[in-house]
Amino acid sequence: MNEATLQSALSSPQNLGEMTDADAVGTVGSPDCGDMVRMWLKYKDQDGRKVIDKASFQSFGCQTAIAVASLATELIRGKTKEEALLMSAEELSAPLGPLPPMKIHCGQMVEGALKAALEAESNTTSKSTILENRATGPTLADSLSAVGKTAGKIKIVMHS
Ligand code: FES
Repeated sequence: MNEATLQSALSSPQNLGEMTDADAVGTVGSPDCGDMVRMWLKYKDQDGRKVIDKASFQSFGCQTAIAVASLATELIRGKTKEEALLMSAEELSAPLGPLPPMKIHCGQMVEGALKAALEAESNTTSKSTILENRATGPTLADSLSAVGKTAGKIKIVMHS
C-alpha cells in the first residue's frame, strides 16, 4: 500500500461531510469490523449526459476506508451513473496501491456505499422523496449501532 498517498488523503480528505443538496445517498456498514461509510451524490447535465457533479462522504471507519472514500469521491466526478457502477473497489483504491488482505473489505465498503447511492437515485422517483428520506432517515451513528456483527461481507442499510 502506498503510505504517502494514504497519509496525504488522511491529512486533507477531499469532500468530507454531509451534502445538504444531494440527489442521492447510500450507506453501507461492514459486519467485519463495524465500520460504516455514507456517500452523497449530486448530478448535473453535461453535453446532454447526466453525470456526477460532486460527491461527499462521512465515515466511521478506519483510515483506509476514509482514504479510499476520499479518493473515490474525486474519481467519480464527471462519470455517468453507468460508468460509476462499473468501478470496482480496486479501481477506487488504485492510487493507494494494492490493499493488504485485512484491508480489502475497507475498499469494498466504499464501493458498496457508492453503489447504494447510485441505486438509490435510480430507484427513487423524485428528488424531493430522496431528500425527505434522507432528512428523516437514521443518523450515521444510529445506523452504525444497528449494524452489529452479522454474517456476510457488507450490509446495506436501508433509508426508511
Ligand atoms: Fe473495517 Fe477498514 S477495518 S473498514
